[in-house]
Amino acid sequence: MKTGDIREAFLAFFESHGHTRVPSSSLVPVDDPTLLFTNAGMNQFKDTFLGNDPRPYLRATSSQRCVRAGGKHNDLENVGYTARHHTFFEMLGNFSFGDYFKRDAIRLAWTFLTEELGLPPERLWVTVHVSDDEAEQIWIEDIGFPAARISRLDEDNFWQMGDTGPCGPCSEVFYDHGPDVPGGPPGSPDDDLDRYIEIWNLVFMQFNRDASGEMNPLPKPSVDTGMGLERIAAVLQGVHSNYEIDLFQALINAAANTLGVTDRDASSLRVIADHIRSCAFLVVDGVLPGNEGRGYVLRRILRRAIRHGNKLGADRPFFHRLVAPLVEQMGDAYPELRRQQAAIEKALLAEEEQFAKTLDNGMAILDEALAGLDGDEIPGDLVFRLYDTYGFPTDLTNDIARERGLTLDMEGYEAAMNAQRERSKEGGSFRVDYNAALKLEGSTQFTGYDGIDGSGRVLALLRDGEPVTSLSADDSGVVVLDSTPFYAESGGQMGDTGFLAADGVRLEVTDTTKAQSHHLHHVKVLEGQVSAGDTLAACVNNSLRQRTRLNHSATHLLHAALREILGDHVAQKGSLVDSRRLRFDFSHPDAVTHEQLRAISERVNAQIRANTPVTTRLMSMDEAMAAGAMALFGEKYGEEVRVLSMGENDFSVELCGGTHVDRTGDIGLFHITAEAGVAAGVRRIEAVTGEGAIAAVDAQSEQLRSLCEAVKATPATLVDRVVGLRSEARELEKDVARLKQKLATSAGGDLTSRAVAVGDTRVLAVNVDGADAKTLRETMDQCKNKLGSGVVFLSTVSDDKVSLTCGVTADLTDRIKAGDVMREFAGRLGGKGGGRPDMAQGGGTDVAALDSVLAAIPDWVAERMGVSA
Ligand code: ALA
Repeated sequence: MKTGDIREAFLAFFESHGHTRVPSSSLVPVDDPTLLFTNAGMNQFKDTFLGNDPRPYLRATSSQRCVRAGGKHNDLENVGYTARHHTFFEMLGNFSFGDYFKRDAIRLAWTFLTEELGLPPERLWVTVHVSDDEAEQIWIEDIGFPAARISRLDEDNFWQMGDTGPCGPCSEVFYDHGPDVPGGPPGSPDDDLDRYIEIWNLVFMQFNRDASGEMNPLPKPSVDTGMGLERIAAVLQGVHSNYEIDLFQALINAAANTLGVTDRDASSLRVIADHIRSCAFLVVDGVLPGNEGRGYVLRRILRRAIRHGNKLGADRPFFHRLVAPLVEQMGDAYPELRRQQAAIEKALLAEEEQFAKTLDNGMAILDEALAGLDGDEIPGDLVFRLYDTYGFPTDLTNDIARERGLTLDMEGYEAAMNAQRERSKEGGSFRVDYNAALKLEGSTQFTGYDGIDGSGRVLALLRDGEPVTSLSADDSGVVVLDSTPFYAESGGQMGDTGFLAADGVRLEVTDTTKAQSHHLHHVKVLEGQVSAGDTLAACVNNSLRQRTRLNHSATHLLHAALREILGDHVAQKGSLVDSRRLRFDFSHPDAVTHEQLRAISERVNAQIRANTPVTTRLMSMDEAMAAGAMALFGEKYGEEVRVLSMGENDFSVELCGGTHVDRTGDIGLFHITAEAGVAAGVRRIEAVTGEGAIAAVDAQSEQLRSLCEAVKATPATLVDRVVGLRSEARELEKDVARLKQKLATSAGGDLTSRAVAVGDTRVLAVNVDGADAKTLRETMDQCKNKLGSGVVFLSTVSDDKVSLTCGVTADLTDRIKAGDVMREFAGRLGGKGGGRPDMAQGGGTDVAALDSVLAAIPDWVAERMGVSA
């Protein structure tokens, strides 16, 4: 059975037993900020188990794409070294949400394994939790499974998704690969060897573990199972290593062919075949190589793959070429992979090209250092330098170290990293750690959604990042209030500016930022003294705040319009909103065309003109997701989230804590000022709104008017006028060239007067200004004609290069040859040349030597001809 057939057989089997087939969810968990990547089939059903997300079905089955790299479950470092580790794998699962429980879960699994797949029962081994008599009873009595092949284990038979969340005891099924493979049954001392391999985990979900570790019963006992598709394929295909199954063999062959490698057993091929799957699917799910979070994990996997290709002799980008064979293998089961093939190839190629620039240098540095290495540990400062200068993630260096039996000095690496952080801090690019300085409980209450005036009591003051009891005139520092209308920088919106005041006290607020739950007013004291406990009136700079609101609301409309016009793959990658403009970064593989930009701008402006009210609702995260609100990865959202809707028919629904307009019409006008690429697969749009947009449009009108005036046209005739001027200019350039040529040619007549007598003939060696190669030849012919008998050598200089031509009249060619003259003198000018006895051409670069070289020609010719000059 091919891997694809097994996947289908599993899903079809459970479908025929009343399960709904549910597509794999994204590798980026949608509403679970605790999880780096999806790592089990049950992730997308977490809330259904908890009773918070009822579904129209009680039984489900799926084949879930999973990544275990970076984060808590990290198998990256083992890929290539073992038969069963992957960064990417597929988990087949069946789920019961309060429907069937242990008995049916075990029966269904047994039927599928022994009847559908036809596995011999005597090759199977089973484990149950030490406390779970019930499950053991079911195996023995219902299934007739021999008690002698059941082990009862503790921790290994209790499964939980993470520190919190659904969990329960489990029963696992193992396959015995036979006595030829070393290892003992589960629970025996050598059960970590390869003979008995777990193929299926049946989890009897019963509890929800909360943050304090307490286990609360789930609303209803449920079932979650997981079977590694690659493992079961290895069993059915009679091979021991997952890398020997059909799917991996196809990828390994493709990699070997692409790289021209004949040894199919090279471990680097396994690494590459594994990594192409995780990299391609991460891009499908919107992750792009980057310097932090998920993007950095992708970059680490990618660079590891590139380095292994390099090890196999790749001398140009190869990795992106494996996307096509992957699509061939998995595109039917995952249509999104096929749809995005071009975008994936592009993203991988960009990273390959970028890393190629430093990989060789980094490897050279490493090899050199290793050659002189004392001991078997790579020093931390070298690991750091490779990371910092050559872009080698530490696990890449570790991979190389492991191949050579070396280890890394990680402590030294951390120290080097910290030293650099300190240096940057001294350089002023790092901010003070306010959280550490403040140590405050509670939070600042933000009153600025409703107005720009307010007041607050001083909770703390800082000067130079240290707590102080008061700030006096001319001091700069930070004021923390218990309540404030000042918006603190977050979600891309810059912090407010304005004033704080009391009797005889005035502070200018130059910025507002956040430390945990407190707003920090960065102030300069203009007058008086402020102390902890004082109450200050607060007043935000109104005009800046108003303009910022317009830009922020316009950003939401832009985001929605981008998704509508460019497609759902558009995901926010960054945003900056201040009083002057808005800047929005998003994932999109190509430049946005002019037509698309116009459509986007029209769509946003139509929503502005519709002038619908902007509504804000507070709700739970689950309700927000159900309402279709867009949330961002990496943002921390609290228990209760703020959902902002605007535009006709909820055109935009987003989670947002920012300050916004009351009605879309307040934005006035939206005007795009720039579109550009900022990284591979990431585009940036900048725009202005309100007065700023009007000013921008006015400025363009003014430029248009000046332009019309300069070329004497009206806006209506401007384009024709400019096109006309350009073609006129081209004609004129041609005329100038023609005239130059004529001038140079007719100058040939006069040039001959500068010929020098050599014996009974004459030698002319001069430079002709402003000629091109063709003119030079024509001039040379004319000079020859005019002289009747002689040697002519002409040069011309353009762009720091000398062009040369030489002619000898027919009567002299048996005594001196143009080719010889040319070879000699082009050589003296740092170039070369040659040709026939009567005509030769060449060039040189030493412009400075030209005069003296030309002057030397008559004597040289005379000597050659055996006459005196
Ligand atoms: N969720 C269970 C696992 O991942 C089935 O093993």
